[in-house]
Amino acid sequence: MKVQRIAVLTGGGDAPGLNAVLRAVTRTAILQEGWEVLGIRHGFEGLLSNEEGDIIPLTWERVAGLLPRGGTILGAASHSNDQLFTIGEGGEVIVSEEAKQCVRDRLAALGVNALIIIGGDGTMTMGQQFYEAGIPLVGVPKTIDNDLPVTELTFGFDSALDEATDALDRLHTTAESHNRVMIVEVMGRNSGWIALHAGVAGSADVILIPEIPFTISKICEKIEERRQRGRNFSIIVVAEGAAPLEGAQLYKEYLGQVSLGGIGHWVGQQIAEQCGVQTRTVVLGHLQRGGSPSAFDRILATLFGASAVRLIAKGKFGYLTALQCGDIVSIPIKDAVGMQKKVPIDGKLVQTARGLGISFGA
Ligand code: F6P
Repeated sequence: MKVQRIAVLTGGGDAPGLNAVLRAVTRTAILQEGWEVLGIRHGFEGLLSNEEGDIIPLTWERVAGLLPRGGTILGAASHSNDQLFTIGEGGEVIVSEEAKQCVRDRLAALGVNALIIIGGDGTMTMGQQFYEAGIPLVGVPKTIDNDLPVTELTFGFDSALDEATDALDRLHTTAESHNRVMIVEVMGRNSGWIALHAGVAGSADVILIPEIPFTISKICEKIEERRQRGRNFSIIVVAEGAAPLEGAQLYKEYLGQVSLGGIGHWVGQQIAEQCGVQTRTVVLGHLQRGGSPSAFDRILATLFGASAVRLIAKGKFGYLTALQCGDIVSIPIKDAVGMQKKVPIDGKLVQTARGLGISFGA
């Protein structure tokens, strides 16, 4: 098959660097291969809608100036769409037969020979099912959580980390002025990568991650130990997925959508009651996903975008790009989905943090 026109979409939540991928895909496709590029709005949903406005020609001019821009000019996908997928009994995403047919027909009508999907585990899981249904596609992994085992790093993580580290630096000065314990809740789903890295980079006293269940008494011990050394303030980073040894993860609900959150306020309240100190909780939330990508994320996103175009040129459909041992490689999408990369609790960074006196509340 001779490729002449490709399409690209961004699925799931946004992450700094998505626009940098779109720019790299467009420029490489035009300059290296002589292809046309179409952008699909709102993930796979843009292919189901049949709305003209959901298809944006990505020209050289359209992607100019996109490198430093946060978010995604294609728009993120919504959480649920019964027409697109259902959730199986084991929690698995199942793409509907109707959606497979719709996407095939729409791509054919648009004259698109290959599709690039940029997204996290959910998008790749759907992508594998579309690929098995005969749609030629390749993937680019994305998440600020850095929890995809297939790649050493995802773009978005470094930018989120910078944001969290900056917040910790700022909170140090106010915590010290008021002799307070400041608790900072960060994102990361069921993995503690953002909390661990930000905690080390931002000089936290306690880091709470999902991989290490914590107790309030151990946290209080650390606060007390610092007080005895004349340090009357402490900084605690807590991952949104962290949970006490005898307890469960906390969730919040907005209009029927459930997501992790609330552990920061719970920890703050428990510490105030059990250690008798003043606490304040800051939930960083979507600040970690907004704004301009870091230089590192711009480069990684650019490498991934260009590599996705090369995968199509080689006919390597059903593969995604990944970073392994510092190199850009390609891996079958089916080997990359349905798993989460956890922080190794005996890994170098956890050990080093412990060696510096940082407590994990355990
Ligand atoms: O996966 C990225 C992430 O930002 C998680 O860290 C967080 O739990 C979730 O998305 C938040 O999703 P939403 O944008 O739907 O609130």
